[in-house]
Amino acid sequence: MVDTLKAETLQAIEAAADPAGLEEVRVAVLGKKGRVTGLMKDLGGLDPEERKARGAALNRLKEEITAALDARKAELQGGALAARLESERLDVTLPVRPASEGRIHPISQTIDEITAIFADMGFVVAEGPDIESDFYNFTALNIPPEHPARQMHDTFYLPDAPDGGRRVLRTHTSPVQIRTMRSVKPPIRIIAPGRTYRSDYDMTHTPMFHQVEALVVDEATHMGHLKGCIIEFCRAFFDIDDLPVRFRPSFFPFTEPSAEVDIGCMRSGGELKIGAYGDWLEIMGCGMVHPKVLDNCGIDPSRYQGFAFGMGIERIAMLKYGIPDLRTFFEADLRWLKHYGFVPLDQPSLAVGLSR
Ligand code: DAH
Repeated sequence: MVDTLKAETLQAIEAAADPAGLEEVRVAVLGKKGRVTGLMKDLGGLDPEERKARGAALNRLKEEITAALDARKAELQGGALAARLESERLDVTLPVRPASEGRIHPISQTIDEITAIFADMGFVVAEGPDIESDFYNFTALNIPPEHPARQMHDTFYLPDAPDGGRRVLRTHTSPVQIRTMRSVKPPIRIIAPGRTYRSDYDMTHTPMFHQVEALVVDEATHMGHLKGCIIEFCRAFFDIDDLPVRFRPSFFPFTEPSAEVDIGCMRSGGELKIGAYGDWLEIMGCGMVHPKVLDNCGIDPSRYQGFAFGMGIERIAMLKYGIPDLRTFFEADLRWLKHYGFVPLDQPSLAVGLSR
């Protein structure tokens, strides 16, 4: 009786295909209504001698079955794990998904950073054409023909326009001031990043480069606004809260008074570091819009005042990102771009950080 039960049970355990099937076998034999449990209950009807022998045999059977169940269980679980590992197999020799190869050029990045800062101050972006009339590039900005300032610009002249007007590749972004003031009424608050051109080429000059222009015109705009705006910009752009900023009197035909803006720096061992170190570095020109320029644009200078500034984008990008040679910006060398470029999804913002 016990032997048959043992043989049958061990066979059933061996035949169980998965942990659930094995549990069924256990319940059928050792469960409350299981066969071994039933035999145990029957022990009470036997006489003492028989009960002793039979009880011992049943206990041994129970132990053997339990051991067989445990062994099979471990086997089945191991098999389940192996099957799962097999079905979820990963080929770790496959190359990882390639990271995006593209990079944002430092010029684009810098323009985005400048835009983020000024957008936060309520400026909007304005644009003008690269091919500009002599009038917008010079005359309207209070630089009359034969004015010496024209020589300073190393202008690229183009064949005359069909109407006989003189055309140039714009030498600065300042003509966007004129275009804006002639097309919209104050209050005006724009920045105009873009390409500019001058016939010059060395470590610090390329025939094409970028500038960003800013223009604010309103009824009560004064030099304090100009200073506050520029100081705020410099500190945000270079991410240095105590960056010293100084305004040095200067001259531009289209502003009066005019100033050049210096920021704090340190020069040592051929290295340049931006910050409160005692030395000064020039980074932009600025001033109060000249009454003649307002007048040239049909804005009444007795009612409106404005300030403007302009700076070279490559220059501040070189300073911020430690790029030593201007010419490398335009050599389209992928290794350079990989080194100095920016990951496309890291959009500059004042909240998250301008550059990460
Ligand atoms: N246009 C000037 C240049 O290219 C820079 C500049 C100076 C722009 C003063 C301004 C300004 O708007 O107010 O050198």
